[in-house]
Amino acid sequence: MRVLSLRALLVAGLVVPFVAGAAFAQSDVIKQRKALMSAMGDQTKAGAAILKGEQPYDPAKAAAIFKAYTDAASFSTLFPDGSDKGDTKAAPAIWSDRAGFDAQMAKFNSAVQAGLPQIGTEAGFKTAFTAVAATCRTCHSTYQAR
Ligand code: HEC
Repeated sequence: MRVLSLRALLVAGLVVPFVAGAAFAQSDVIKQRKALMSAMGDQTKAGAAILKGEQPYDPAKAAAIFKAYTDAASFSTLFPDGSDKGDTKAAPAIWSDRAGFDAQMAKFNSAVQAGLPQIGTEAGFKTAFTAVAATCRTCHSTYQAR
């Protein structure tokens, strides 16, 4: 069998130049997950203002808040091995207790999915939002370093 040259594979896009990318990859993934969380944080502040009656309920706002939550559905994949070092508050427990972290993530996702059909009314939104926000706090208490 003929062995394909490395150049041919590179041209075909089959070999990603890992060596060049590796140094940047970990800091990119940290930035990515923080940006995702930060967006959720902003939307959650907006939701809390509605909950407290400081802002009126608005179905479009409720949809934007829950969109930020569904956008974060695969958040737990942004914690590859080696991304515990750097400008991050990810707690070591994410890597020492991956199953526990994934379970928190699953609780968050199920609260979001259970809540989605309810956000079209003010009462429904408030119930759904409260349930999701509780899962943010539970995960942070173990998996986000202070
Ligand atoms: C399954 C666990 C988990 C869930 C659920 C979760 N978070 Fe986080 N969150 C983290 C971890 C871990 C970090 C630290 C990430 C880092 O510093 O690399 C974080 C960081 C953050 C940050 C700081 C981002 C920054 O710029 O440093 C905010 C804000 C935040 N989360 C908001 C939320 C909100 C709001 C929710 C719920 C709607 C939520 N999180 C749900 C685990 C979670």
